[in-house]
Amino acid sequence: MTGGCHGAHRRGECKRPPDAALATVPSVARGSLITIEGLDGAGKSTLARALAEAIAARGQRVELLREPGGVDVSERIRALVKDPALAVAPRAEALLYAAARAQLVDERLAPLLGDGAIVLLDRYVDSSLAYQGAARGLGVERVRAINRFATGPLQPDRTLLLRITPAAGRARQVQRAESPDRLESEDESFFARIAAAYDELARSEPERIRVLDASLAPERVLADALAELDDLLAPTGRTRS
Ligand code: TYD
Repeated sequence: MTGGCHGAHRRGECKRPPDAALATVPSVARGSLITIEGLDGAGKSTLARALAEAIAARGQRVELLREPGGVDVSERIRALVKDPALAVAPRAEALLYAAARAQLVDERLAPLLGDGAIVLLDRYVDSSLAYQGAARGLGVERVRAINRFATGPLQPDRTLLLRITPAAGRARQVQRAESPDRLESEDESFFARIAAAYDELARSEPERIRVLDASLAPERVLADALAELDDLLAPTGRTRS
């Protein structure tokens, strides 16, 4: 919450730095933000859909969103960043993903969480850290910094990292027989750097990031995911400071 300086900022009357306007997310009595991460072909969307069904079946309010996308502005950015006909420079790419994210946070995520919903989000900041920070070579900390600006203080309550080898992820994509988008057309070493970066992130934040073996059958991955979310999904786990 911004503490009432909104209009005052525009009128130039607010004494607090404009950065305070980034703190739009209430820190108490909010829902839960659960993000799903992993390489292309890891099965994130399948898990996200199954989780949404399982959580809804428990009578809890759940919303499923994806990145980049989820709201009109961000879906347009999605079309742009995925277009194989475009050569997007690495810094521009990082900023486009961050811009799509900023819009999603303001327009959908913050209001939903403020309302107490459980939000399942297919990719979030960790994707940018791994893809743009590590694989594109921009530096994880630099990409983290622009994402702090984009999201304000909104951190996931938990992140499920679907671990799969780059080769297995690639094989699943080939099975789907879709033509690869701009990022999916990158070479092996690009995906090896992403996988290594995700592992490093998981090592540095073991409480938030839970690693799942994505090579297992979908029902097994779902069961493992639910086990990692048990404390968050328990009714008493939903109102925290
Ligand atoms: P998508 O079709 O959603 O891939 P997937 O189904 O595997 O999630 O396309 C998103 C692509 O954008 C994917 O290749 C990963 C990439 N990406 C980034 O490079 N940085 C980001 O911050 C995000 C959110 C996605």
